[in-house]
Amino acid sequence: MKKNILNLAIIVFIAFSSNNANAQYNTLWIPDTLSGTHFELTLKDTFAQFKTGNQTISAGVNNSKFWGPTLFFNKEDTVYMKVKNKLNDSTTLHWHGMHLPAVMDGGPHQVIPPGTIWQPYWKVTNNASTYWYHPHLHTMTQEQLTKGLGGFIIVRDQHESSLALPRSYGVDDIPLVLTSRRYNASNAFVTTKCSYGDYMLTNGTPNAQTDLPKQFVRLRILNAEMERAYNLGFSDNRTFYIIATDGGLVNTPVAVTKVILAVGERIEILVDLSNDAVGSSLDLEAYNSGFAIGFPGGEPGTTGEFGSLLNNTTFNLLHINVVAQTNNAIKSIPSTLANNTYWTAADATVSRTIKVTDGNPGPNSKPFSLDSQPFDLTQINNTVNLNTIEKWTITNNNVFGHTFHIHDVEFKIVSRSGSSVGNYEAGWKDVLYLPRNTSATFVAKFDDYSDSIHPFMYHCHFSNHEDGGMMGQFVVKSSTTGINKIEEELNDFSIYPNPSSEKIYIKFGSPLMQAYYIKINNSFGRTIYMLPRPQLQNGIDISNLSPGLYFLQLTDEKTKGTITKKFIVE
Ligand code: C2O
Ligand code: CU
Repeated sequence: MKKNILNLAIIVFIAFSSNNANAQYNTLWIPDTLSGTHFELTLKDTFAQFKTGNQTISAGVNNSKFWGPTLFFNKEDTVYMKVKNKLNDSTTLHWHGMHLPAVMDGGPHQVIPPGTIWQPYWKVTNNASTYWYHPHLHTMTQEQLTKGLGGFIIVRDQHESSLALPRSYGVDDIPLVLTSRRYNASNAFVTTKCSYGDYMLTNGTPNAQTDLPKQFVRLRILNAEMERAYNLGFSDNRTFYIIATDGGLVNTPVAVTKVILAVGERIEILVDLSNDAVGSSLDLEAYNSGFAIGFPGGEPGTTGEFGSLLNNTTFNLLHINVVAQTNNAIKSIPSTLANNTYWTAADATVSRTIKVTDGNPGPNSKPFSLDSQPFDLTQINNTVNLNTIEKWTITNNNVFGHTFHIHDVEFKIVSRSGSSVGNYEAGWKDVLYLPRNTSATFVAKFDDYSDSIHPFMYHCHFSNHEDGGMMGQFVVKSSTTGINKIEEELNDFSIYPNPSSEKIYIKFGSPLMQAYYIKINNSFGRTIYMLPRPQLQNGIDISNLSPGLYFLQLTDEKTKGTITKKFIVE
């Protein structure tokens, strides 16, 4: 495994410094894939050659030097994750866009200490689309994202699979994660006082190029920047077709020549290469020149916290070489993609407003916040009743553009500053771009998952703003969770067999008890396993634990009371 990593590093280095005709380009890296229902993700520090000179300390998932494998989920499957934190720091892993229980969400409350394995699982109910996973540890998100931690999630479902769309991964269906980095003099990533990178990385590849076949090609594009938005387009200004937004297919393809993709947003597009000659080339570019201040990346400077070599310029994202058509090439676009029926403002029974606050320049400037309440892990900012359809209006009277992302749900944007919404963002969304001096209103239904302890987040997806406190949290409350008298008594449980070497089982003192959370700590107090809502019928596998004394802390589902028991691994 180690050898592989070194080889890859050498390949990137050679491509980067060779003298052939395409010397300025490197071959676009396509992330490996994992599929099925059981996934193991190991987060670890590594290093890679992004620039000539020193290697850069980076981080990746499984064998990657930057970023991680693409996870394929099938809608309706229950997926089981084993997340191992082999970093030197605590982290979390958030499943961006997934509808799941808050305790499985991987937000700032589900901290995974170094050395610990976290095992969330959930039933996939999202529509076929492009989602992603990334760290979400409060105040550390920018640093851990900058190092490269993250990956794509591609959900498939029966409906999307029945359409004639490109879906050969890496051939005519290409994932593109767009971000940029600034390097210091010794080639380390700059992570503080740095809103914008100076050098583009497309799938972690500097100056990326790829071969694409002479037919309709699908690009799944994610903006994984810190702040910069991309005004996407092709070098010959050709029309392309938006087929999906964050949370699924749009009803009919939307033809555009440019589209803005802000941080955290995903878009799936089809581009027609069938009229391009084999051997010709074109570029996917960011047409970011000419934007006023307020557009993220529109600032004029080239240095400092808000400057960048890429600011307010047009720059290349991917050089495309057209190659021969494949067998089974897609040669047309379905005229109908989906039959979504969306919530309307009239469906909402609760309305909320959230305001972008603070962040104004000046001697007493405070970091950006929402509703003047800097993020506080212990403060629940909003309580939503389970199954309610709500309308949220986000107002940005600030001089700067932001984004707004909410966990748990996909939403429908129903208006912008009181006016209608462009077709390019008319589908299901979980992030919206909020330009300066505008507001946006969305409607969402908060169904399926209530939890009185673990909240969901909403925040600006600029990681430096989020880390700085531009985030709030809400719990989804079930009206039927009156705890009755008998259940208030948290009954005992026992562990058997004890001692054990393979598996342990839990026997509850009362049939009303259910495990909400189990933590296994070693005798030094270090957490080894974190098991949200474990399914206990098959026992807990402890075969990887070395012999010794351990503590199992169980939190009861209804009372949320905890009891700790010792057990011995022999
Ligand atoms: Cu992509 Cu709260 O996150
Ligand atoms: Cu922001």
